Amino acid sequence: MAKPLVNAILSRRSIRRFKEKDVDTEIIKEILKVGRSAPSRGNSQPWHFIVVTDSKVKKKLGDACYGQKVVKTAAFCIVVLGKIDPRKSVPDRTAELVKAGAFGQEVQDFADHVLDDWSLAEMKVDAALNSSIPAALMSIAALDFGLGCCWVKLAKDDKVLETVGVPEGFYHTGTIAFGYPDEAPSPRPRLPYRDLVSHNRFGTPYSDLE
Ligand SMILES: Cc1cc2nc3c(=O)[nH]c(=O)nc-3n(C[C@H](O)[C@H](O)[C@H](O)COP(=O)(O)O)c2cc1C
Repeated sequence: MAKPLVNAILSRRSIRRFKEKDVDTEIIKEILKVGRSAPSRGNSQPWHFIVVTDSKVKKKLGDACYGQKVVKTAAFCIVVLGKIDPRKSVPDRTAELVKAGAFGQEVQDFADHVLDDWSLAEMKVDAALNSSIPAALMSIAALDFGLGCCWVKLAKDDKVLETVGVPEGFYHTGTIAFGYPDEAPSPRPRLPYRDLVSHNRFGTPYSDLE
């Protein structure tokens, strides 16, 4: 049975060497379309994507990421941001979902108040959680266009935010460097399943997965 999606996901590697070749704007738009389609809590869509194609900005971004070449040499980067406090827009988003038939008024009644007493730390986790989903999906979508990418988060976050002029209230989820691959790395090691997967109760191995 062909499993093109699973096989594509398993073929993904972090790519850190790129050909000196631009990426067509239409391809970038398709990748952004995938990012925008990502699921989020209450459809809050608490993210913003900054597409960086300007070489000078890429260089400054790379400097903000401890000089990482992958950022400087990418055809383009997408700086993925999480919106830290999306609470103001919660009632609008949940009302849209009720109208669209996703759930009933009884869900909106509690969904609108779940975030009321959240701390800044909890909101930052939520921003990172939600915005990492479009980032992951865009990384996968890139494969369909023959592109490779690498997430970069070993970064001075404040410097990254400053470089691309981000206002208060956003979290730097990661900068994804995209381009046509100029390397074909082998799969990187993974931990054994027994350290990562349990069955019914934490620590009980699932099946015969090693
Ligand atoms: C949140 C996150 C941050 C990362 N930051 C960096 C980074 O700053 N520099 C880098 O070269 N790779 C970075 N990576 C890529 C990882 O090193 C890579 O995913 C891991 O080694 C596994 O390799 P693979 O992606 O080829 O399977 C990051 C990946 C993630 C998900």
